[in-house]
Amino acid sequence: MFDVKKIRKDFPMITNHPEMIYFDNGATTYKPQCVIDAVKDFYENYTSNVERGDYPTAIKADRTYDQVREIIAELINCEPREVAFFANITAAMNQIAFSLSYDLKEGDTVLISEAEHASNVLPWFRLKQEKKINIRYIPLDKQGNVDLEGYAKCFDDTVKAVSVAYVGNVLGAVQPIREMSEIAHRYDALMIVDAAQAIGHRKVDIKEFDCDLLCFSSHKMCGPDGAGVLYGRYELLKKMKPLLLGGGMNARFADDGSVILKDPPHCFEAGTPNIEGVIGLGTAAKYLMNIGLNEIHEYEVDLRKYFLDKMIRLDNIEIYNPDNISGPLTFNVKGVFAQDAAGYLAANNACVRSGNHCAKILHNVIGTDQSIRASIYFYNTREEVDRFCELVAQIDLENAVNIFI
Ligand SMILES: Cc1ncc(COP(=O)(O)O)c(C=O)c1O
Repeated sequence: MFDVKKIRKDFPMITNHPEMIYFDNGATTYKPQCVIDAVKDFYENYTSNVERGDYPTAIKADRTYDQVREIIAELINCEPREVAFFANITAAMNQIAFSLSYDLKEGDTVLISEAEHASNVLPWFRLKQEKKINIRYIPLDKQGNVDLEGYAKCFDDTVKAVSVAYVGNVLGAVQPIREMSEIAHRYDALMIVDAAQAIGHRKVDIKEFDCDLLCFSSHKMCGPDGAGVLYGRYELLKKMKPLLLGGGMNARFADDGSVILKDPPHCFEAGTPNIEGVIGLGTAAKYLMNIGLNEIHEYEVDLRKYFLDKMIRLDNIEIYNPDNISGPLTFNVKGVFAQDAAGYLAANNACVRSGNHCAKILHNVIGTDQSIRASIYFYNTREEVDRFCELVAQIDLENAVNIFI
C-alpha cells in the first residue's frame, strides 16, 4: 500500500525542513536515509578501491559495486553486463557520441528534438561541426510530444541514429519509444534514449523499448550525485570505443604500444569510479523497486492532476503543458519574469526552477525561453500543492521583482 506519510519519514531533507515545498525534483531528488546509510557504511566500514585490492574490505567493495549491475539490470530489464557506470547522463551521452564519431561520415544524419537537454544536443552539435553530419529535428506538438507521422517522414538512408528523451525535462512529454525504435530499426538507425526524467518515476523496460542505448543519472532517482548508467546492447557495447583510457579498463598493455582492453562494461570504467555513488545508486534502485515503480507513477499522475486542476483555475498564469499527464507543470506568471516569480516562491519556502532548463532550443516549440518548472515526486503531497498554488496566486509584478533587493 502506497503510504506517502510513511514515505516522507524516509527522507531527512523533509524531516529537517518541513516548511519547504520542494518542487525541483526535475533538477535532483531528495535521498532516503537508506541511501545515505549505504554511502556512510562504505566510508566507515569498507573504504577501498574496486577491481584492484586482494584484502577483505576491497573484496567486499568489489562485490557490492558489481552487485549494483544486477540491481540495475532488474530495474530496467537487461543483462548485468550491459550496465556500465558513468558519472551521469552527460558523461554517458558524450561517450555515445564519441564512439559514433568513428562510424558517422559527412552527410549522415542524427535525429534529435528541440526539446532535448543540452547533454543530448551539444555532443551531436560537435559531430555536426567536426564530421559535417546533419542534425534533423523530429516534429513536436506545442506540448513537446513527438508526432509519429512526422517522425517517420524524417527518415532516409542518411539517418544513422535517433536520440531523444523518453520524458522531456521541461514539458514532461512522454515519447512513444517502442514505436520510434521500430521505425529507426527499419532504417538500421540506432535508437538512443535519455531516461533522466523517467527513471525512478515509472517503469523503464529495455525489452519493451527495444532501444540500443539508454542512459540515466542516479541523482534523479534518489541516489547520490556523480553516478549514472549507460545501458547498451552487449554486441553494440563490444563495438564501441571507450572515451576514457586508463587504469581499471585495460586487461594489459606492453612497451610496444599494444593494448588489450577489458570486455564491456569494464572497458568504459577507466580510473577510480564513484564507488560510494554506485553503491548508493543500487540502494536507491532497491528502495524504489520495493515501493513499486507502478505505484510511484500512479501516485505522481494523480498528484499532478490535482496540481493541474488547481493551477488551471488561477487567472494570473499561463501553463505550457496542461495536456501532458505526468512530469512537471511548466508555467509563467503573466507579465512577470520567470526568475522574479521564482524568487517570490523561494522567499516563501517553495523551490522551483526557472529559466530555460538547459533546453535552449525549446523556445522554438513553446515560444518562450523563460518559464517556471514545478516538478513533483512521490514524496510530495496535496497539502504542499495547496500551499504552492496559494503562493502562485499571490505573485504579481510588485512582489515578484522586489524580492531580492
Ligand atoms: C532530460 C535530461 N537529460 C539529461 C540531463 C543531464 O543530467 P546530468 O546533469 O545528471 O548529466 C538532465 C538533467 O536535468 C535532464 O533532465
